[in-house]
Amino acid sequence: MSGPVMIGHLLLEKLARREQIRVPEADLIMQQQDQIAAFAASGRDQGILAYIYLFHAVMALPVIRPGDTVLDLACGPANQLAQMAQLNPDTHFIGVDASPNMLELARGTSANAGLSNVTLQPGDITRLAGFADASVDCAICTMSLHHLPDTAALAATLREIGRVLKPDGGIYLADFGRLRRTATQRFFAYDRQELQSQQFTEDFLNSMRAAFSPAEFRTALAASGRQIDYYATALAPFMMIGRSPARRTLDDSLTQQVQRAYAGLTAGQRRDFNNFTRWFKAGGLELPSPVR
Ligand SMILES: C[S@@+](CC[C@H](N)C(=O)[O-])C[C@H]1O[C@@H](n2cnc3c(N)ncnc32)[C@H](O)[C@@H]1O
Repeated sequence: MSGPVMIGHLLLEKLARREQIRVPEADLIMQQQDQIAAFAASGRDQGILAYIYLFHAVMALPVIRPGDTVLDLACGPANQLAQMAQLNPDTHFIGVDASPNMLELARGTSANAGLSNVTLQPGDITRLAGFADASVDCAICTMSLHHLPDTAALAATLREIGRVLKPDGGIYLADFGRLRRTATQRFFAYDRQELQSQQFTEDFLNSMRAAFSPAEFRTALAASGRQIDYYATALAPFMMIGRSPARRTLDDSLTQQVQRAYAGLTAGQRRDFNNFTRWFKAGGLELPSPVR
């Protein structure tokens, strides 16, 4: 993810005035086995999303404390959840998803990784039934908000986050932003098509079309009633992050864990991780811990 063609698309995004109309995902809740298998594979070992999961796990570290109960909203196959649970072994994670098939996969991910600090349960993130007011320490949600039907559901989710979080709770939300040109959307969906399944490429393009705009995302962040700072990749909001202020500083042992996880990526994934890090840094968000 880099190069002159990408820079060209980003510059044209910057100049584009008109927003694309949002096209919601056909499958809001992901239940189709071929679709969820393709998505799950993209986040494992050699998968195209593996570096993004490490990136979010590192970016979320400042808002997660040992001893916390962390809610992962719409956890999907739990690739992100597993990465975070490994980096935060003294934190309990609860993954919630509305898809029974996804939860089945997530149970496998958690068992294969030998995680004892993860539980998984069915649930709708727009109505966090079963979670009492001020009962969790942290809420995270990665690459899932674009699966909501509309801005009303997005605002409802953020209100629920505000309700279930303790007063000093942490928040980390990351999702694609809606780009202004269909050509840029297609560029990102097809950029690495040789490394991803056809199914994943189609889903990626659908995600780009279903993404909320930065304005829609920021309006929803305010509905939480919490302080959440907004960041995005420079020049164009390929990805947006909402993160609450830091709740801890990272010690040496955690920094070393991050380095080991980074070393476990392939050379290509490390390159993607570094480029993605530079792209966010140019957009105003730096890694909380040096990674090389
Ligand atoms: C693209 S996946 C992302 C999963 C995961 N967060 C990740 O980063 O890999 C989106 C997930 O959102 C789930 N989902 C969609 N709408 C939901 C809702 N209202 N409540 C709970 N889960 C939902 C889908 O079933 C799917 O598992």
